[in-house]
Amino acid sequence: MCAGFAVQFDETPVPAGEPLIRYVHVQKAFGSKRIYEDLHFDVLSGETLTILGGSGQGKSVMIKILIGLLTADTGQILYRGVDLTHLSEFQLIEVRKRISMVFQLAALFDSLTVFENIAYPLREHLRLEETAIRERVEAQLDLINLPRSFAARYPSELSGGMRKLVGLARSIVMQPEVILYDEPTTGLDPESTVRVNKLIRTVQQERGVTAMVITHDMGGAFYFSDRIAFLSGRRIHRIGTVQEMRNAEDEILQNFLRGIPDEEE
Ligand SMILES: Nc1ncnc2c1ncn2[C@@H]1O[C@H](COP(=O)(O)OP(=O)(O)OP(=O)(O)O)[C@@H](O)[C@H]1O
Ligand SMILES: [Mg+2]
Repeated sequence: MCAGFAVQFDETPVPAGEPLIRYVHVQKAFGSKRIYEDLHFDVLSGETLTILGGSGQGKSVMIKILIGLLTADTGQILYRGVDLTHLSEFQLIEVRKRISMVFQLAALFDSLTVFENIAYPLREHLRLEETAIRERVEAQLDLINLPRSFAARYPSELSGGMRKLVGLARSIVMQPEVILYDEPTTGLDPESTVRVNKLIRTVQQERGVTAMVITHDMGGAFYFSDRIAFLSGRRIHRIGTVQEMRNAEDEILQNFLRGIPDEEE
């Protein structure tokens, strides 16, 4: 594909349960360190797929190669049938509007109110009337269960958990088709963790988004996932529904779920 042309995606809705993203025989190494030998799996339209795996196994790299923050060595990553692995920075702008990553530290702008923080991507990317912006921001506040009166507050006036929720609201205000969450609850207190986990579920159910979640929080994973993919041995060791994974007769997986370290790692 020519680097100069904007990439066109088919806008037809992909029916729930059909592949939306396909990792096709992806390999990746950093120098002599091989991360994936053969990463091969699908993300289905409308599902929340959680990626589990030990530290340093390549969970974050998996979503970074999807949106072009890192490149795969071989293989393809198809989104709506388009291979994303050879796109230019210019073409990736369109991809990142549709596949939005929620960074672990969703830093808010301290000098802007909650309202302006959430409105920021709308003002950057769209030409909307002020009333339309207000509507979209208020819908986000409702989604994260934050009273509308908080819109006028500054980040410094919020708890860490609330800041995280506002960061999430800002990440999804553009209504992406896919949301990538990399450890969204790491460092949060238990109450905020529950709120974020509920939000992940709500966003999927109310907005029909497809999500990939990386987490070390098993309780969360079992709660909000439709399927779980377990990364081990430089590939997806096993993928299945929450029930299938919990019941699988698979020592490596069960040891991981029980928190027993893998001696080969
Ligand atoms: N840009 C990079 N350059 C070199 N090595 C990297 C780079 N990014 C990641 N790595 C290495 O690739 C491996 C996988 O990294 P990754 O961040 O995907 O792990 P992870 O599964 O997300 O781990 P954690 O649970 O600790 O976040 C690690 O060994 C890491 O050091
Ligand atoms: Mg990581």
